[in-house]
This record gives sequence, C-alpha cells and structure tokens, in this order.
Amino acid sequence: MNKKFYITTPIYYVNDKPHVGSAYTTIAADVLARFYRARGDEVFFLTGVAEHGSKIAASAEKAGKEPEEFVDEMAPKFKSAWKKLNISNDDFIRTTEPRHEKAVEKFFIKLKESGKLYEKDYEGLYCVGHEAFVKQSDLVDGVCPEHKTKPEIVKEKNWFFKLSEYGEILTKKIKSDELIIAPDERKNEVLSFISQGLEDIAVSRQNAKFALPLPWDKNQTIYVWLDELFNYCSAICYGEDVREFHRFWPADLHLVGKDIIKFHCVIWPALLLAIGEEIPRKVFAHGFFTSGGAKMSKSLGNVLDPVELAEKYCVDAVRYFLLREVPFGQDGDVSEEKLAARYQSDLANGLGNLLQRTISMINKYKIRISKSETNEEKPETNIKILNLIEELKFDQALTEIWKVIAELNQFIDQSKPWELAKSDSGKLVEVLSEVHRSLSNLVTPISYFMPETADKMKHQLETLKPEPLFPRIEK
Ligand code: MSP
Repeated sequence: MNKKFYITTPIYYVNDKPHVGSAYTTIAADVLARFYRARGDEVFFLTGVAEHGSKIAASAEKAGKEPEEFVDEMAPKFKSAWKKLNISNDDFIRTTEPRHEKAVEKFFIKLKESGKLYEKDYEGLYCVGHEAFVKQSDLVDGVCPEHKTKPEIVKEKNWFFKLSEYGEILTKKIKSDELIIAPDERKNEVLSFISQGLEDIAVSRQNAKFALPLPWDKNQTIYVWLDELFNYCSAICYGEDVREFHRFWPADLHLVGKDIIKFHCVIWPALLLAIGEEIPRKVFAHGFFTSGGAKMSKSLGNVLDPVELAEKYCVDAVRYFLLREVPFGQDGDVSEEKLAARYQSDLANGLGNLLQRTISMINKYKIRISKSETNEEKPETNIKILNLIEELKFDQALTEIWKVIAELNQFIDQSKPWELAKSDSGKLVEVLSEVHRSLSNLVTPISYFMPETADKMKHQLETLKPEPLFPRIEK
C-alpha cells in the first residue's frame, strides 16, 4: 500500500506581496511534494494565506480599502506567484473562506469542551507586526526590534488556554521523536524554551479588528494565530468529513521558517492534544535569508522579488538558486548578483552546455542512440541524491547532481570525441552513448527541483534537437 504524505507551508500574511522568504518555504515544499508523488505516495500539499487580524486590517486601512476588498486583491497575488514558480500545491486555503471559518468555530467549541479554557483579566503588550503578546524584555528602547513599532498596551478580559499543563507531555513527545523537530538546533531550542516553564496563552482578544468572533462570546474575537494554525485541519475537512480528515491527518511535515517554531512545536501540538487529535509527525524549520549581508527591507531596497527574478532569469533558475545557495535549515545571504553568477556557471556553462554539446556531437557524428541505452535502473548516485532529498538536504542533493555534470563535461574534454571521430569510431559511439545515458539518468532527480528544465532535457535527449536550456540574459 502506498503511504500518504501530507505536507504544508505556513499560510502567509497578505499584507504584502510574496517575497523570496515565502517563496523559499513554498519551493522547498514543492520539491518534496514532487519527490513523494514520484515515489508513489498519496501526497497532499497545502499552502495558503492568512487574511485575518489587526495586521491585515491595518494594511488595508493604509491602502484605503476595506479589509475584505484588500484581501480579495492580495490573495490572487500569491496564487499567481506560485503558479509562476511552478508550485504543484493540491490546495490553497484562505482563512476568510467559509470552509475554514466553520472549522475554526468547531475547533473552538471542542477546545471549550475540553475544559482547558478559562477567562481572566489580562494586561499585556501586543505587537501587531508579530500578532502576538510580547514581553517588556523583548523590546529594545521600548519598541519591537523587528517591526520597529511600539506595542499596544492591552488591558482586557480574555479567554486563556492552559498551555502551562503541557510542558511535560510535550517534552516527552519531542525527546522520543513522536514529534520530530528538525534540525537538531531547533529541537534543542524548543526543549529549552519548554523547560523554562510554559505560560498559559490568551486565545481571544476583545474585539480585535477583522477577526472571527468567539462562538460563545461575541464580544471576543479569536486570536489570529489559532485561527491560522487550524488551516492545516480545516483544509482537509475537519468537522465536515471524518474519513477525508483522517485520510491525511496527522500532517507528515509542517515546513516553517525558524521564526514561528514556538507556534508550531509548542502551542499547536498542545491544542491538538486538548481537542483529542493526533499531533503532527514532523516540523522542519529553515533559516532566514539576508540580502547583501543585511535584513531584507523595503527601505534598504534589497528585497528580492521571486516573480521578477523568475521573469528575468527563468523560474528554474530561482528554484535552483534558493535551494542550492543556502543549506536548508541555516541562515544565508542571497542576492541577484549571486543568482546571476550561479545562472552563468552552474546552469548555462554547466548543465546547459553539457546537454547542448552532447546532442550537437551526436548529430554531427551521426551516432545512433538506441532506446535500451537509457538506464531504467537507478544508478548509485541517484540513490544518494534521493536520500539527501528525503533528509531535506537540498543543497547537497544539488551538489551531487552538479558533480555528475562536471564529471561528464570533463569526460568529454578528456575523451575528445572530435579526435575520436577521425581515429576510433567505436570508442566515439561508446563515449557519446555513455554521456547521453548519464544525462538521461539525471532527468528524474532534476525534475523535482527544476520541472521545466527536466522536461526540456528529456525532450531534447529523445528528439536530439539541441536548444539552449539557459540562454544569455540581457542585462
Ligand atoms: N501567518 C503566519 C504563519 C501562520 S502558519 C499557521 C506568518 N506569516 S508570514 O507571512 O510572516 O510568513 C512567515 C514565513 O515566511 C516564515 O515562517 C518563513 O517560512 C517565511 N519567511 C519570511 N521571511 C523570510 C526570510 N527573510 N527568509 C526566509 N524565510 C522567511 O508568520
């Protein structure tokens, strides 16, 4: 029986168009979805957008629009960006959709029934940028260091969730890998956070803007982060169709950025335990991009737009670059210059040149490539590559592929087919057939990362009509 594989990305705030950070998580998830599908698993790949809350309401107001109108304009920007980047998601959820809102209502009723909620007066500092309460100690000179804004002082009655009761059980589940948190650094970070003692969290706000009402207390609104986390369940019919829900739940992998691990590795599993559902199998947190050594920000003008880059260089160049440049899980620096350099060296001069010279020589020397020469069995390097993908070591998987490319280019240089054409036609056939076969073997591993390129390679290798894979970019 084939296994199911349920993979998710965070749902992105629609306060701005997609940037290279959100594209990063989404492309990585796409590589895995394509990989597991090819392996025969039943894959459900979910992405989407977060549309509720004060942060979105404030962005709408700034744009002079009603929140509903604003989110309706912004959500399609994400959909079209993912289409452009060749993302093969099976669903795209928006938190303003009725299917989601209905499920969240059921979730909250369940949560109330669990006895893990209570009401209390609360006073705290709320950072709208984070959509979270922050502590005085998180601030620098009285402002949030990330958003550069002064948090709101909130003094109100809220509903609270007894998160403090879950420290021990979460620690046990994380240590035993019942909930796998990767990389290890992140696992240790979560365990250390829990060991300091968990505090109960507010799950409602008093009439926050553009948020869902609490089912039993219409003066209160649901805390957006809980609304958002629940997308992973609402998208697979929680509360609507039990069989469909259990076909995919629990999630096999939540891919997230390292900024949101506490929500995914502490709050989320505790909530699921409270409502009697299984916890996710694995959360993997990747690192953060900087650009030109600095945090990406509009004012610095170093924000990379993945769609513009895809239009200028090609979608596969962006997909390749982001996963090759920085080891998945670590922080790293990306810039257009770095992308352009990789485009030239790895793609145009590396893979593109190899394919083109191989096919041109096969044509020129009239070599017959018989069908049986494409190897159906997985060569050893391919197995190595597949294992690396499964471990989410995308940069290493790509390095392996490009090692083969470099070796093949070298093999051609050393065997000198142009001389063999004059002296040893038997050897000439052998050399070019070997390169053709090795290139054919790379099509599948490349297809997870660069689906369009893999299609073009396959087509050219079959028809022997060479065309530049990565043409020169006009500056
Ligand atoms: N709405 C929440 C997520 C809810 S999930 C139930 C949220 N949204 S967000 O729009 O801020 O997107 C956060 C995610 O975008 C990060 O976790 C990460 O996946 C990605 N990134 C945003 N900026 C990034 C970088 N500079 N670098 C890498 N990834 C980053 O938080």
